[in-house]
Amino acid sequence: MQQVLQQLSELYGPSGREDAVVSFLRQEVADYAADIRSDALGNLIVRAKAGTEGGKRVMLAAHMDEIGLIVNHIDEKGFLRFGPVGGIFPLTLTGQRVRFASGLTGVIGLEPVESPSDAKMPKMYIDVGARNREEAEQLVRVGDIACMDRHFVAQNGRAIGKAMDDRAGCAVLVEVLRALQHSPHDVYAVFTSQEEVGLRGATTSAYGLAPELAIAVDVTGTGDTPEARPMAVALGKGPAIKIMDGGMLAHVGVKELLIRVAESHQIPYQREVLLGGTTDARAIQTSRSGVPAGTVSIPTRYVHTASEMVDLDDVVHAVRLLVALLEGPIDL
Ligand code: CO
Ligand code: ZN
Repeated sequence: MQQVLQQLSELYGPSGREDAVVSFLRQEVADYAADIRSDALGNLIVRAKAGTEGGKRVMLAAHMDEIGLIVNHIDEKGFLRFGPVGGIFPLTLTGQRVRFASGLTGVIGLEPVESPSDAKMPKMYIDVGARNREEAEQLVRVGDIACMDRHFVAQNGRAIGKAMDDRAGCAVLVEVLRALQHSPHDVYAVFTSQEEVGLRGATTSAYGLAPELAIAVDVTGTGDTPEARPMAVALGKGPAIKIMDGGMLAHVGVKELLIRVAESHQIPYQREVLLGGTTDARAIQTSRSGVPAGTVSIPTRYVHTASEMVDLDDVVHAVRLLVALLEGPIDL
Protein backbone atom coordinates (compact mmCIF):
# COMPACT_ATOMS: atom_id res chain seq x y z
CA MET A 1 0.00 0.00 0.00
CA GLN A 2 2.66 2.50 1.05
CA GLN A 3 4.74 1.64 -1.99
CA VAL A 4 1.82 2.13 -4.37
CA LEU A 5 1.04 5.44 -2.68
CA GLN A 6 4.66 6.54 -3.00
CA GLN A 7 4.86 5.65 -6.68
CA LEU A 8 1.52 7.28 -7.44
CA SER A 9 2.31 10.48 -5.55
CA GLU A 10 5.62 11.00 -7.33
CA LEU A 11 4.22 10.57 -10.85
CA TYR A 12 3.76 13.57 -13.13
CA GLY A 13 0.06 14.14 -13.82
CA PRO A 14 -1.48 17.61 -13.89
CA SER A 15 -5.02 17.93 -15.25
CA GLY A 16 -5.31 16.76 -18.84
CA ARG A 17 -1.82 15.23 -18.61
CA GLU A 18 -2.67 12.07 -16.69
CA ASP A 19 -0.98 9.63 -19.12
CA ALA A 20 1.79 8.50 -16.79
CA VAL A 21 -0.72 7.80 -14.03
CA VAL A 22 -2.92 5.87 -16.46
CA SER A 23 -0.01 3.66 -17.57
CA PHE A 24 0.98 2.92 -13.98
CA LEU A 25 -2.58 2.11 -12.89
CA ARG A 26 -3.23 -0.12 -15.91
CA GLN A 27 -0.37 -2.35 -14.76
CA GLU A 28 -1.34 -2.24 -11.08
CA VAL A 29 -4.96 -3.31 -11.63
CA ALA A 30 -4.47 -5.74 -14.53
CA ASP A 31 -4.81 -8.85 -12.33
CA TYR A 32 -8.04 -7.67 -10.69
CA ALA A 33 -9.85 -6.35 -13.74
CA ALA A 34 -12.50 -8.03 -15.84
CA ASP A 35 -12.25 -5.15 -18.27
CA ILE A 36 -10.20 -1.96 -18.63
CA ARG A 37 -11.01 0.89 -20.95
CA SER A 38 -10.53 4.61 -21.29
CA ASP A 39 -12.64 7.36 -22.80
CA ALA A 40 -12.02 10.54 -24.78
CA LEU A 41 -11.44 12.62 -21.64
CA GLY A 42 -8.76 10.24 -20.42
CA ASN A 43 -10.68 8.45 -17.67
CA LEU A 44 -9.50 4.93 -16.86
CA ILE A 45 -12.52 2.70 -16.28
CA VAL A 46 -11.83 -0.62 -14.57
CA ARG A 47 -14.50 -3.25 -14.08
CA ALA A 48 -13.69 -5.44 -11.07
CA LYS A 49 -13.18 -9.14 -11.58
CA ALA A 50 -14.75 -9.75 -8.18
CA GLY A 51 -18.09 -8.25 -9.14
CA THR A 52 -21.16 -10.17 -10.22
CA GLU A 53 -22.96 -9.07 -13.30
CA GLY A 54 -26.54 -8.23 -12.43
CA GLY A 55 -25.97 -6.70 -8.99
CA LYS A 56 -26.11 -2.97 -8.34
CA ARG A 57 -23.84 -1.04 -10.68
CA VAL A 58 -21.44 0.74 -8.35
CA MET A 59 -18.98 3.44 -9.40
CA LEU A 60 -15.99 4.24 -7.22
CA ALA A 61 -14.18 7.37 -8.38
CA ALA A 62 -10.78 8.80 -7.58
CA HIS A 63 -9.11 11.49 -9.64
CA MET A 64 -5.70 11.00 -11.18
CA ASP A 65 -4.88 14.64 -11.88
CA GLU A 66 -3.03 17.03 -9.62
CA ILE A 67 -2.83 20.81 -9.65
CA GLY A 68 -0.26 22.36 -12.00
CA LEU A 69 1.21 25.51 -13.53
CA ILE A 70 0.87 26.26 -17.26
CA VAL A 71 3.41 28.37 -19.15
CA ASN A 72 1.73 31.24 -20.99
CA HIS A 73 4.72 33.42 -21.92
CA ILE A 74 8.50 33.15 -22.25
CA ASP A 75 10.39 36.44 -22.01
CA GLU A 76 13.58 37.43 -23.86
CA LYS A 77 15.73 36.53 -20.85
CA GLY A 78 14.26 33.02 -20.78
CA PHE A 79 11.98 33.34 -17.74
CA LEU A 80 8.60 31.61 -17.97
CA ARG A 81 5.37 33.25 -16.89
CA PHE A 82 2.57 30.96 -15.83
CA GLY A 83 -1.01 30.60 -14.70
CA PRO A 84 -2.75 28.03 -12.51
CA VAL A 85 -4.23 24.70 -13.62
CA GLY A 86 -6.57 24.12 -10.69
CA GLY A 87 -6.61 25.85 -7.32
CA ILE A 88 -3.12 27.13 -6.49
CA PHE A 89 -2.29 29.36 -3.51
CA PRO A 90 0.44 31.82 -4.66
CA LEU A 91 1.64 32.06 -1.05
CA THR A 92 2.92 28.49 -1.24
CA LEU A 93 4.91 28.88 -4.47
CA THR A 94 8.06 30.96 -4.02
CA GLY A 95 11.20 28.84 -3.97
CA GLN A 96 9.35 25.67 -4.95
CA ARG A 97 10.70 23.36 -7.60
CA VAL A 98 8.42 22.28 -10.40
CA ARG A 99 8.78 19.51 -12.97
CA PHE A 100 7.64 19.37 -16.58
CA ALA A 101 6.58 16.22 -18.44
CA SER A 102 10.06 16.03 -19.97
CA GLY A 103 11.60 15.82 -16.51
CA LEU A 104 12.88 19.41 -16.75
CA THR A 105 13.09 21.15 -13.37
CA GLY A 106 12.13 24.79 -12.82
CA VAL A 107 12.43 27.06 -9.78
CA ILE A 108 9.73 29.57 -8.93
CA GLY A 109 11.04 33.10 -8.45
CA LEU A 110 9.30 36.26 -7.33
CA GLU A 111 9.85 39.88 -8.42
CA PRO A 112 10.52 42.29 -5.53
CA VAL A 113 7.19 43.23 -3.91
CA GLU A 114 6.22 45.82 -1.28
CA SER A 115 4.46 43.33 1.00
CA PRO A 116 3.80 39.58 1.04
CA SER A 117 0.20 40.20 0.01
CA ASP A 118 1.53 41.50 -3.32
CA ALA A 119 3.18 38.14 -4.01
CA LYS A 120 0.65 37.13 -6.65
CA MET A 121 1.12 34.86 -9.62
CA PRO A 122 1.70 37.66 -12.18
CA LYS A 123 4.77 38.68 -10.12
CA MET A 124 6.18 35.16 -10.30
CA TYR A 125 8.13 33.29 -12.92
CA ILE A 126 9.69 29.87 -13.49
CA ASP A 127 13.45 29.80 -13.95
CA VAL A 128 14.77 26.76 -15.84
CA GLY A 129 18.32 28.09 -15.92
CA ALA A 130 18.06 29.32 -19.51
CA ARG A 131 20.17 32.33 -20.56
CA ASN A 132 17.67 33.67 -23.05
CA ARG A 133 14.39 32.91 -24.83
CA GLU A 134 16.03 30.71 -27.47
CA GLU A 135 17.60 28.47 -24.84
CA ALA A 136 14.37 28.32 -22.85
CA GLU A 137 12.39 27.36 -25.94
CA GLN A 138 14.73 24.43 -26.54
CA LEU A 139 13.48 23.10 -23.20
CA VAL A 140 9.89 24.19 -22.80
CA ARG A 141 7.10 25.76 -24.88
CA VAL A 142 4.08 27.91 -24.17
CA GLY A 143 1.34 25.51 -23.08
CA ASP A 144 3.60 23.11 -21.24
CA ILE A 145 2.35 22.24 -17.75
CA ALA A 146 4.49 21.67 -14.66
CA CYS A 147 3.60 19.92 -11.43
CA MET A 148 5.19 20.35 -8.01
CA ASP A 149 8.40 18.38 -7.60
CA ARG A 150 8.68 16.65 -4.24
CA HIS A 151 9.68 13.22 -3.05
CA PHE A 152 7.39 11.10 -0.93
CA VAL A 153 8.23 10.74 2.76
CA ALA A 154 6.69 8.36 5.30
CA GLN A 155 7.37 8.83 9.00
CA ASN A 156 5.45 8.29 12.24
CA GLY A 157 2.67 6.62 10.29
CA ARG A 158 2.13 9.75 8.23
CA ALA A 159 2.84 10.16 4.54
CA ILE A 160 3.84 13.43 2.91
CA GLY A 161 3.77 13.96 -0.83
CA LYS A 162 3.04 16.43 -3.59
CA ALA A 163 -0.18 14.83 -4.83
CA MET A 164 -1.98 13.05 -2.02
CA ASP A 165 -4.90 14.91 -3.62
CA ASP A 166 -5.89 12.55 -5.04
CA ARG A 167 -3.33 9.80 -5.56
CA ALA A 168 -4.28 8.72 -2.01
CA GLY A 169 -7.74 8.05 -3.43
CA CYS A 170 -6.24 6.24 -6.43
CA ALA A 171 -4.20 4.05 -4.05
CA VAL A 172 -7.39 3.26 -2.11
CA LEU A 173 -9.15 2.12 -5.29
CA VAL A 174 -6.19 -0.07 -6.30
CA GLU A 175 -6.19 -1.69 -2.86
CA VAL A 176 -9.97 -2.18 -2.94
CA LEU A 177 -9.65 -4.02 -6.26
CA ARG A 178 -6.84 -6.11 -4.78
CA ALA A 179 -8.68 -6.92 -1.54
CA LEU A 180 -12.18 -7.53 -2.91
CA GLN A 181 -12.65 -11.29 -3.14
CA HIS A 182 -16.28 -11.34 -4.22
CA SER A 183 -19.14 -8.89 -4.47
CA PRO A 184 -22.82 -9.24 -5.32
CA HIS A 185 -22.45 -5.95 -7.20
CA ASP A 186 -21.10 -4.87 -10.55
CA VAL A 187 -18.15 -2.82 -9.36
CA TYR A 188 -16.32 -0.21 -11.42
CA ALA A 189 -13.25 1.66 -10.23
CA VAL A 190 -13.03 4.83 -12.27
CA PHE A 191 -9.78 6.78 -12.19
CA THR A 192 -10.96 10.16 -13.37
CA SER A 193 -9.24 12.95 -15.28
CA GLN A 194 -9.41 16.73 -14.90
CA GLU A 195 -11.08 16.91 -11.48
CA GLU A 196 -9.05 19.92 -10.39
CA VAL A 197 -10.33 22.04 -13.28
CA GLY A 198 -14.02 21.27 -12.80
CA LEU A 199 -14.84 17.56 -12.33
CA ARG A 200 -14.70 17.04 -16.07
CA GLY A 201 -13.67 13.38 -16.21
CA ALA A 202 -16.27 12.43 -13.63
CA THR A 203 -18.92 14.14 -15.73
CA THR A 204 -18.35 12.01 -18.83
CA SER A 205 -17.53 8.75 -17.05
CA ALA A 206 -20.64 8.94 -14.87
CA TYR A 207 -22.79 9.61 -17.91
CA GLY A 208 -21.23 6.64 -19.70
CA LEU A 209 -21.58 4.23 -16.78
CA ALA A 210 -24.98 5.32 -15.45
CA PRO A 211 -24.20 3.93 -11.97
CA GLU A 212 -26.87 3.10 -9.40
CA LEU A 213 -24.56 4.07 -6.54
CA ALA A 214 -21.41 6.18 -6.64
CA ILE A 215 -18.74 6.89 -4.07
CA ALA A 216 -15.91 9.33 -4.68
CA VAL A 217 -12.71 8.84 -2.72
CA ASP A 218 -10.86 12.11 -2.31
CA VAL A 219 -9.03 14.18 0.27
CA THR A 220 -10.57 16.66 2.68
CA GLY A 221 -9.21 19.34 5.00
CA THR A 222 -8.69 19.03 8.74
CA GLY A 223 -9.12 21.21 11.79
CA ASP A 224 -6.19 19.77 13.73
CA THR A 225 -3.38 22.25 13.02
CA PRO A 226 -2.49 25.44 14.96
CA GLU A 227 -5.23 28.07 14.71
CA ALA A 228 -7.04 26.02 12.06
CA ARG A 229 -10.59 26.96 11.21
CA PRO A 230 -12.70 24.70 13.46
CA MET A 231 -13.56 21.47 11.63
CA ALA A 232 -14.40 18.13 13.22
CA VAL A 233 -11.91 16.16 11.12
CA ALA A 234 -8.39 15.17 12.22
CA LEU A 235 -5.59 13.02 10.90
CA GLY A 236 -5.61 9.43 12.16
CA LYS A 237 -9.20 9.24 13.38
CA GLY A 238 -10.47 7.32 10.39
CA PRO A 239 -11.74 8.13 6.92
CA ALA A 240 -14.31 10.93 6.83
CA ILE A 241 -17.81 10.20 5.60
CA LYS A 242 -19.04 13.31 3.86
CA ILE A 243 -22.29 14.94 4.83
CA MET A 244 -21.80 18.18 2.91
CA ASP A 245 -19.12 20.16 1.12
CA GLY A 246 -19.05 23.34 -0.92
CA GLY A 247 -20.58 21.61 -3.93
CA MET A 248 -22.90 18.86 -2.74
CA LEU A 249 -25.06 17.33 -0.08
CA ALA A 250 -24.26 13.64 0.08
CA HIS A 251 -27.21 11.36 -0.63
CA VAL A 252 -28.60 10.59 2.83
CA GLY A 253 -29.03 6.90 2.10
CA VAL A 254 -25.43 6.58 0.90
CA LYS A 255 -24.08 8.47 3.92
CA GLU A 256 -26.15 6.28 6.28
CA LEU A 257 -25.02 3.11 4.49
CA LEU A 258 -21.36 4.09 4.91
CA ILE A 259 -21.90 4.83 8.61
CA ARG A 260 -23.76 1.53 9.15
CA VAL A 261 -20.98 -0.44 7.46
CA ALA A 262 -18.25 1.37 9.44
CA GLU A 263 -20.02 0.78 12.75
CA SER A 264 -20.86 -2.87 12.12
CA HIS A 265 -17.24 -3.59 11.13
CA GLN A 266 -15.69 -1.46 13.90
CA ILE A 267 -13.95 0.75 11.38
CA PRO A 268 -13.17 4.21 12.77
CA TYR A 269 -14.74 7.08 10.84
CA GLN A 270 -15.41 10.78 11.13
CA ARG A 271 -18.36 12.89 10.06
CA GLU A 272 -17.32 15.48 7.51
CA VAL A 273 -18.74 18.91 6.84
CA LEU A 274 -16.37 20.78 4.52
CA LEU A 275 -17.31 24.41 4.00
CA GLY A 276 -15.41 24.89 0.73
CA GLY A 277 -14.36 22.71 -2.17
CA THR A 278 -15.99 19.59 -3.58
CA THR A 279 -15.26 16.27 -5.27
CA ASP A 280 -16.17 14.17 -8.29
CA ALA A 281 -19.28 13.06 -6.37
CA ARG A 282 -20.89 16.41 -7.18
CA ALA A 283 -20.66 15.80 -10.92
CA ILE A 284 -21.73 12.17 -10.59
CA GLN A 285 -24.69 13.01 -8.36
CA THR A 286 -26.13 15.38 -10.94
CA SER A 287 -25.46 13.10 -13.91
CA ARG A 288 -28.43 12.07 -16.08
CA SER A 289 -31.54 12.03 -13.85
CA GLY A 290 -29.46 11.89 -10.67
CA VAL A 291 -27.28 9.27 -8.98
CA PRO A 292 -27.18 8.44 -5.24
CA ALA A 293 -23.66 9.54 -4.39
CA GLY A 294 -21.42 10.05 -1.40
CA THR A 295 -17.78 10.59 -0.60
CA VAL A 296 -15.23 8.82 1.55
CA SER A 297 -12.52 11.35 2.36
CA ILE A 298 -8.92 10.97 3.42
CA PRO A 299 -8.19 13.70 6.00
CA THR A 300 -5.27 15.72 4.63
CA ARG A 301 -3.23 18.64 5.94
CA TYR A 302 -1.85 21.31 3.58
CA VAL A 303 -4.12 20.37 0.67
CA HIS A 304 -3.02 21.95 -2.62
CA THR A 305 0.55 22.54 -1.50
CA ALA A 306 3.69 20.62 -2.44
CA SER A 307 3.59 18.79 0.91
CA GLU A 308 0.20 17.24 1.53
CA MET A 309 0.11 15.03 4.64
CA VAL A 310 -2.12 12.03 5.36
CA ASP A 311 -2.20 9.36 8.06
CA LEU A 312 -1.57 5.90 6.60
CA ASP A 313 -4.09 4.29 8.99
CA ASP A 314 -6.85 6.47 7.51
CA VAL A 315 -5.97 5.20 4.05
CA VAL A 316 -6.04 1.56 5.24
CA HIS A 317 -9.39 2.09 6.99
CA ALA A 318 -10.87 3.69 3.87
CA VAL A 319 -9.99 0.52 1.95
CA ARG A 320 -11.58 -1.68 4.64
CA LEU A 321 -14.73 0.45 4.67
CA LEU A 322 -15.23 0.23 0.91
CA VAL A 323 -14.47 -3.49 0.73
CA ALA A 324 -16.95 -4.18 3.54
CA LEU A 325 -19.60 -2.09 1.77
CA LEU A 326 -19.08 -3.83 -1.56
CA GLU A 327 -19.23 -7.30 -0.02
CA GLY A 328 -22.66 -6.70 1.52
CA PRO A 329 -26.16 -5.79 0.38
CA ILE A 330 -26.86 -2.22 -0.68
CA ASP A 331 -30.11 -0.79 0.66
CA LEU A 332 -30.46 2.92 0.23
CO1 CO B 1 -7.73 19.01 -5.19
ZN1 ZN C 1 -9.03 16.05 -4.96
